[in-house]
Amino acid sequence: MTTNYRLPTNVKYTHYDLHLTPDMKNFTYTGKLAIDIDIKEDTNTLVLNYKDLEIGTAYIMVDGSNDLLQSSSVTYDSDREEVSMKFPVTLTSSLASPKLHIFFTGTINDKMAGFYRSSYKTDDGETKYCAVTQFESTDARRAFPCADEPALKARFTVSIGVPKKSQYTVLSNMPVEEFIDGFASDVYRFETTPVMSTYLLAFFVGEMDHVETTAIMPQSKNEVKVRVYTPKGESEKGKFSLELAARTLEFFSEYFDIEYPLPKMDMLGLPDFAAGAMENWGLVTYRSTLIYVTEGKTSNMIKEQVAQTVCHELAHQWFGNLVTMEWWTDLWLNEGFATWVGNMATNHFYPEWDTWNTFVNCEMGSALSLDMLKSSHPIQVTVNKASEIDEIFDNISYCKGASVIRMLVNTLGEDTFRTGLRAYLKEFQYSNAETGNLWAHLSDASGMDVATMMNSWTTKTGYPVLTVKRHGETSIEVTQERFNVADDTTWHVSLDIITSERGYDNMVKHVLTQKTEVIDLGHSWRWLKVNTECSNMCVVNYSPDLLNDLSEPVKTQTFKPVDRATLLSDLIRLNKTQHVHADVVLNFLPAYTDETVLSVVENVAAYMRLLTYTWQGTDDSLTNSIKRYTVNLFKDRFDKVGWRATEGESHNTSIERRMLVTRLSVAGYEPVLAESKRLFDLLMSGDTSQVEPDLIQTVIITGVQNGGQTEIDQVRHLFETTTEEELQGHCLTALGYVNSADHVDDCLDYSFNSGKVRTQDAYRSMFPLAEGRFTAEAWNYMVRTWDTVWKKFQGGKYISARLVSLPLQNMKDTTTLDDAVKFVESKADDLSDVRRTVDQGIERARATIKWMDYDRNSVASFFNNTN
Ligand code: BES
Ligand code: ZN
Repeated sequence: MTTNYRLPTNVKYTHYDLHLTPDMKNFTYTGKLAIDIDIKEDTNTLVLNYKDLEIGTAYIMVDGSNDLLQSSSVTYDSDREEVSMKFPVTLTSSLASPKLHIFFTGTINDKMAGFYRSSYKTDDGETKYCAVTQFESTDARRAFPCADEPALKARFTVSIGVPKKSQYTVLSNMPVEEFIDGFASDVYRFETTPVMSTYLLAFFVGEMDHVETTAIMPQSKNEVKVRVYTPKGESEKGKFSLELAARTLEFFSEYFDIEYPLPKMDMLGLPDFAAGAMENWGLVTYRSTLIYVTEGKTSNMIKEQVAQTVCHELAHQWFGNLVTMEWWTDLWLNEGFATWVGNMATNHFYPEWDTWNTFVNCEMGSALSLDMLKSSHPIQVTVNKASEIDEIFDNISYCKGASVIRMLVNTLGEDTFRTGLRAYLKEFQYSNAETGNLWAHLSDASGMDVATMMNSWTTKTGYPVLTVKRHGETSIEVTQERFNVADDTTWHVSLDIITSERGYDNMVKHVLTQKTEVIDLGHSWRWLKVNTECSNMCVVNYSPDLLNDLSEPVKTQTFKPVDRATLLSDLIRLNKTQHVHADVVLNFLPAYTDETVLSVVENVAAYMRLLTYTWQGTDDSLTNSIKRYTVNLFKDRFDKVGWRATEGESHNTSIERRMLVTRLSVAGYEPVLAESKRLFDLLMSGDTSQVEPDLIQTVIITGVQNGGQTEIDQVRHLFETTTEEELQGHCLTALGYVNSADHVDDCLDYSFNSGKVRTQDAYRSMFPLAEGRFTAEAWNYMVRTWDTVWKKFQGGKYISARLVSLPLQNMKDTTTLDDAVKFVESKADDLSDVRRTVDQGIERARATIKWMDYDRNSVASFFNNTN
């Protein structure tokens, strides 16, 4: 039975005057609300969302009267997260400007949701606190009673009282309108917001410094004040995102043809943050590592993540904040779009980063991996209550969402797409929209039936594998089936076919809608590739003869990098799902010997990594062969790149160095191990100057992987003493690379129980530990400590789901997995909120086990013959 968790629609709440007085010592606050209500249908009951609040009195006042209409009863439904206020008379639309007044108190909690506290240590060891909000998806109700649904937009006037003469910076979505030097406290009253959804409201109280610049709006030439707030004394590290944010606001104002409507944009990093970043309108919040950059110290890898994150959150200022999805079912309109638009902006500012090819490898890659499972879900998905909503912030909404948009852009052309987008944003600004509204505007702009084109992609689970065979001299036969799961879905696939006779400028176009179609190309060919530039989210399975012909254009680099890359990534996927054996992939690899482009080589590296991790611990001679093979693939490349960056070296060379050192270290390549050890010792002695920032993580990992208790202690010491957040993260990840089962319990205890690791980072060591040789040990730890450790993280969304799904998905034998599944069943109640993620983990494990059975001989015989 599904319950409808939506609020009644008989009353509209149009304006919230919200006054809060936080007590920063006891972490409580008092709140006072005055809400303008618009009564649509007579009623004597008002219903709002709330959670974990103490509600005092509620009464109604109307214009021109001093009489209070006190509520006769206030009742709570904690399952529905609703409070109902009943009044002794019927409220009708004839009341003059009625206002609902509510007094309440709450705690500034430590759950990284609602109104919460975050702590940090100053240089002289003092612990300080700040208080901040995180409302998406349904936690505004945790801070104040409100109609907490995305379509129930309202205006907000926030005011916050802090102790007199305190050092606090107090922020909200809008600039301060009035500072009131009150009797008991200093009150900051902010300007009223535009009409917006509750989940985008935000406020902050804490001690900060800032850097500041202005963005100039393209048409009006209005100035928008942009600030990045940093911890005291560290404002330098805000400069990179500050500059990028200002330019991005200008860029999007132009691109969407709607200027950023607020007078300011503040951004700040927080030491405790559940997600990565949050797009609150005018007050964007981040995990510290995703906003701060210190030139020369921050790695290129992190810098790229920072840029991506800033562009993504600022994209939401239009896609999400100005136009909001009607209901969470269309969450992908927010997240898929912000992901696509964010990549577009990153690519605009940093063309040398090769952003779109990274997108195809990473984002589209994650979408392809998740969406091949039975336990995946369609982009547009029915959701009701909070826990179901949280679970769809996943690679389907973000990555499949962004991939299908990239596909659509390719079909419509970027200009047409932008025209449709602009019209859509104009029509629905300050309001809400559904997927169909966007399709309608894109259809208008293009003259194509976009809804029909896109329907299969957004309403069905999965994606197609295209099987391609020769059909006579000039034709091919293409069959589409759902990849990895048998069902009868067919998709609308706009194919661009490139052949030896018809290059990128002159491709054969064909729209596939049937299960099997014969396509006449009108000419014979030496080689041919369908799904050129991987514009559709699908996998292509060529018959052996067609595949064989394709190594030539890869080798000669006739193909663009994205085509070289995806030929290989498709083969890897086909291998993992038992369409082809490993030797087919491995025999294709020589086409990449002279490959120069990072995003292509990354796929070669990814396959060697996959083989290494899949076969580890099974057969020493096989794993040694895989390692030797890896060394041969990468050592010459590494010799060219070396340990140190050269003057003016490119961003991607630095990223490539990191990848090569990592692969060679895991493969046990002696020269890399030796130098890594030397650098590890330097790092542990506090000298970071001799290690490239992009290599620090892999050097620390190598130290732990090839060390013992001494190295573990050294890394813990570094973690506990450094103030650099990036370095702290690297240490925690590295601590999951212990090399003996004896260290597993201690490693996990350190993460979950020592009080030294923030909740937001607790899962970091679990990733490598679960993926490495000690999956079973990691799982046993979770089982054994269920009532203490797991329960401690329960409700902490991402974290609790990962603690279970990471070890599960890496299990490599059926007995262990079956036992684990029984355990999971016995904890069904505890796991109900993260069920989908857990099921996905189990399905992934079963798939790997099947793959290993299928490929055992093929892998062994290939490596026996080559080494
Ligand atoms: N709107 C999300 C933040 C969010 C995520 C809120 C999950 C509630 C639940 C934000 O725009 C976002 O997508 N953040 C990403 C980082 C981004 C660069 C992809 C995140 O937090 O991982
Ligand atoms: Zn987002």
